[in-house]
Amino acid sequence: MSILDEKFEEFQAGSIEERIKCFKQDGRLFDMIVSQQLDRKILNDIYDITNQLRTISKSKSGSIFIQSLLCHKRAMLYFTQPSSRTFLSFESACHMLGMRTSEIRDSRVSSEIKGESFDDSLRTYSSYTDLIIMRNDMENSAERAAWLLNTWSNRCIPVVNGGSGSDQHPTQAILDIYTLQKSFASQGGLDGKTVLMCGDLRRGRTVRSLSYLIKNFEDIRLIYTAPQSFQMKGDVCEFLEKNNIPFIVETESIDNVISEADAIYMTRIQDEYDLVKGESGKVDISRFTIGLPEMKKVKPNGIIMHPFPRRNEIDVAVDSDPRAMYWRQERNGMWTRAALIAYIFNVHNEILNF
Ligand code: CP
Repeated sequence: MSILDEKFEEFQAGSIEERIKCFKQDGRLFDMIVSQQLDRKILNDIYDITNQLRTISKSKSGSIFIQSLLCHKRAMLYFTQPSSRTFLSFESACHMLGMRTSEIRDSRVSSEIKGESFDDSLRTYSSYTDLIIMRNDMENSAERAAWLLNTWSNRCIPVVNGGSGSDQHPTQAILDIYTLQKSFASQGGLDGKTVLMCGDLRRGRTVRSLSYLIKNFEDIRLIYTAPQSFQMKGDVCEFLEKNNIPFIVETESIDNVISEADAIYMTRIQDEYDLVKGESGKVDISRFTIGLPEMKKVKPNGIIMHPFPRRNEIDVAVDSDPRAMYWRQERNGMWTRAALIAYIFNVHNEILNF
């Protein structure tokens, strides 16, 4: 164990409230690592910036203005776990703001293959960029990267978590809440709604990050719908209990609860994390999918979401139903991620005042 391993272990032994202080600078959000960093004020600010970006970008002069904001900055996309949406939406978001981007998408083509440690690799990447956006299959990897650059390196640049193992995916949760708020705009927003999450809740980082963000809303009720072996882990359930967020667990069938939900958030089985190859395939998930028969039970004002990629959790026949929100949801990712980057680099007031 290196001294860095020891120090990080010491850091991780602290409470989440203590740890997230490390990811702020001058009292502001600096690194985006876990959903627990976000409060309603920050979310509202990010969504105001998102809406303004969408409006300004409609004109050529507006787009040129936005591109001028961070044209002196560079971003690196360090994605060694597969991604379509998160990678492309972050890359588009950076380009929208004028940032030049570089990338590593496979550690076999970096010097990690020669035995360079994660920590040394991170410090090396930070030499050539002003922002690292990262995804990999290691839990807490983004937390380690941000901690390392903030405490051990003299080149302290922001780190954004684009998915850290089966742990967290906070920028997905930001875009999910934006989609929920927009979808329920005429019904008082997300406050007071019932959100059903279905699928691999145990290893799905999107539902974990979304559950943490729900704390910022009033009177939400959660329904976790999955076979027992894919049910939500105890750490998230304890968090909900501590924050008086009511939730129920349904292990038999989505059919039993689907009509109660305002938002239905489907997820795929995360079999890339199987400890024994093929073990997920042995679990019967046939009663945890949505097709046209299930849609008949969904509330008329309800919505269907999915972080994607999907397999067969949602039948493609559902795509043409106006309650299917998942294609809009993925596009919202580009705008909310651009807003987040503008917020981190403190250029958001220029966007809001345009
Ligand atoms: N939702 C999401 O994280 O998608 P990708 O894996 O394609 O980035």
